[in-house]
Amino acid sequence: MSEQRILISPSILAADFTRLGEEIQTVVDAGADMIHIDVMDGHFVPNITLGPVIVRAVRSVTDVPIDAHLMITDPADYAPSFIDAGADYVVFHSEVCRTQDEVRSVIELIRERGAKPGLAVNPPNPEARVLPYLESVDLLLVMTVNPGFAGQSFIADVMPKLQQIARWKKDRSLDYLIEVDGGIGPETAPTVARNGGEVLVAASAIFGQDDRGAALKAIRHAATSELGGREV
Ligand code: DX5
Ligand code: ZN
Repeated sequence: MSEQRILISPSILAADFTRLGEEIQTVVDAGADMIHIDVMDGHFVPNITLGPVIVRAVRSVTDVPIDAHLMITDPADYAPSFIDAGADYVVFHSEVCRTQDEVRSVIELIRERGAKPGLAVNPPNPEARVLPYLESVDLLLVMTVNPGFAGQSFIADVMPKLQQIARWKKDRSLDYLIEVDGGIGPETAPTVARNGGEVLVAASAIFGQDDRGAALKAIRHAATSELGGREV
């Protein structure tokens, strides 16, 4: 039996913001392992979304870990305000840094301020982008859409990269969580799980459904069934 864990991190990007507290409560009651908050600045991606005030609001209604996904050009400038607002994981894109030293300094900044650092890699970019930092991060985020919007189609071409990141973790006995984000639902969750994904992010496939709780459970069931594991 596989020891691979499956965690579900609903992305509130597709939630009904007029009743955000209830939305959070519903997915937490259904067993959400984390809450994913998509932060877009209109520079790194062509969209503007959520900021620290939303992280603070989510923090006020749940103790579930919050992963803040920073799709922004200046993570060093803004990571502290997301951490102060209650983010547990702060994930940024190495694409925004000019040098490896700059990536390392942002990772260190996040850790020094008391959060867990994560690095994301976009679909066109190779796994080599994150290789220098495997031992420095708590989470690696493999994007399966080009970031910017909820509701896009899953890019299956990314699976070899996910496999390699899972292989490095196993071969080197590392602890980082492997998160996968974009186009994940009950149909694609088995593929993600089979290729090594551990934290499955979903916006539309949860908050775009009438019964959010059932939708979350359907994704978990699809992923864990693929692994032959028991659901807990
Ligand atoms: C994409 C965001 C994702 C997005 C996922 O830019 O990083 O987290 O909300 O949305 P779905 O699950 O609808 O593809
Ligand atoms: Zn995201």
